[in-house]
Amino acid sequence: MQVIVETLNILDNQLADTKKEVLLQWLSLVGPAILLVILFIFLEVKPFQVSDPYSINVLSLQGDPVKGEGIFQMNCAGCHLSPMNSQVGPSLERISQHKSDLAIIKQVVSGETPPMPQFQPNAQEMADLLIYLKQI
Ligand code: HEC
Repeated sequence: MQVIVETLNILDNQLADTKKEVLLQWLSLVGPAILLVILFIFLEVKPFQVSDPYSINVLSLQGDPVKGEGIFQMNCAGCHLSPMNSQVGPSLERISQHKSDLAIIKQVVSGETPPMPQFQPNAQEMADLLIYLKQI
């Protein structure tokens, strides 16, 4: 009888150990993933950024840089280019080297960085503007 009880105890302990192991294994797999997610949130990195339909539309269109320049002269050059005007905004020369297409679209349409106003170009105008900006 004693032997049976002992055996059962040992079995029980082993079972508990396996459970612990499984839990630890699970934690060692999921733990780093959770940490990574927290890090991404913290750094505002969006590795799986889903673009909004407007941006996808813009990126799918073929822009016309000549039209883009016209749009730029009308709407943006006052702040961004002409040395004659007050240059409120930064120079946009080689902007595409430090901002992605999506970030440029967002900058133009979001109005998140006053005093730069929020623009609402249609997708084709935005595509024209984007291709022009990528050339300067
Ligand atoms: C009223 C002035 C003004 C007008 C008009 C304006 N911007 Fe801006 N823009 C700014 C300012 C100021 C910033 C800097 C904002 C910040 O980052 O705080 C800026 C920033 C930007 C940036 C980011 C620059 C960088 O180095 O990250 C882009 C791209 C941009 N503007 C594009 C445009 C485009 C395209 C237009 C026209 C459709 C436009 N802007 C019109 C003032 C203006």
